[in-house]
Amino acid sequence: MHSDLAETFRGRRFLVVGGAGFIGSHIAEGLLALGARVVVLDDFSNGKRANLAGDAGSLELLQGDVRTFDFDSLGKLDGVFNEAARALLPSFVDPVTDLLVNAGGAVRLLEYARKHDVKLVHASSGSVYGNPIKIPISEDHPLNPISPYGVSKQTSELYCSMYFRVYGTDVVALRYFNVYGPRQTVNEEMGVIPIFVSRSLRRMPLRIFGDGKQTRDFLNVSDVVSANLLAYRSTRAAGQIMNIGGGGEEVSIEELAQMAMKACGYEAPLLYTDAKPGDIRRLVADNTHAKEVIGYVPKVTLEAGLKQYVEYARGL
Ligand SMILES: NC(=O)c1ccc[n+]([C@@H]2O[C@H](COP(=O)([O-])OP(=O)(O)OC[C@H]3O[C@@H](n4cnc5c(N)ncnc54)[C@H](O)[C@@H]3O)[C@@H](O)[C@H]2O)c1
Repeated sequence: MHSDLAETFRGRRFLVVGGAGFIGSHIAEGLLALGARVVVLDDFSNGKRANLAGDAGSLELLQGDVRTFDFDSLGKLDGVFNEAARALLPSFVDPVTDLLVNAGGAVRLLEYARKHDVKLVHASSGSVYGNPIKIPISEDHPLNPISPYGVSKQTSELYCSMYFRVYGTDVVALRYFNVYGPRQTVNEEMGVIPIFVSRSLRRMPLRIFGDGKQTRDFLNVSDVVSANLLAYRSTRAAGQIMNIGGGGEEVSIEELAQMAMKACGYEAPLLYTDAKPGDIRRLVADNTHAKEVIGYVPKVTLEAGLKQYVEYARGL
């Protein structure tokens, strides 16, 4: 799938922190498919060994915590992808742990990257923007996070920029927006696609919070993998922070519900219920910066990604 990138990755050794989770396991798979050797570190608080079950051979799976693991023990690697974060519970429940894992973990990896002169690609989030005041959201949009999670991600970015400025550490931070795909975590705040598909497959009506006119720009996990590989390969990305959004197809939740039912061969009236407090009205990323710097262009349309997700969900 990324055959033009094989030269960059073949035979090299990478660490994927949080690599047993949703996005991390896809990155690990992508690296293995390009002939890289991969070490995955995960504390399995949300990740699963089964997420990497198909990948034997060049994969080493370690159980450990990003807050305490001795990264120096791995020696010099060719690169690190940091996907570890607390995703299971809303961050308001335990903001301190959120900070220690999301930002503290990033600082520990920056220290490792600085000492060993290793490139780090770090997962940030579109949540740093808070409620958008203009759409599409570009990187010059004000940062007004409205959750401890968003603040922890913004903090991690400040450290990334500082390490580049002061030490010249080769680090790139990617602000992912609404990612979906196989193995996605579903909780109260995330996972509208898995929820809609799972209910459609079970022939249960879909529930819409509010009027259903709120819009999103969904990002397929395989495009997130591409963004990570391109960010690693780029020689122009050091010290940069960039949006990684979907293909710019702004769809309403109502439209998404119809698309999900269609992909599952199901038809039923939608159930409308009270809006969730603080639900963001429109959320669409501007990917221009990532396109210019690393050549990122999302490829998977929502229709194709949904079809692929339905195939996966049928097998669950
Ligand atoms: N899924 C999205 O829509 C989305 C959007 C924006 C940003 N992100 C970011 O992308 C990254 C990956 O998220 P995901 O959706 O794959 O979530 P996920 O929960 O599936 O993956 C995170 C992984 O990190 C592991 N982990 C958690 N705490 C750890 C610790 N202390 N030490 C080691 N491992 C630990 C978990 O077990 C899990 O496997 C995260 O940084 C997340 O904040 C995700």
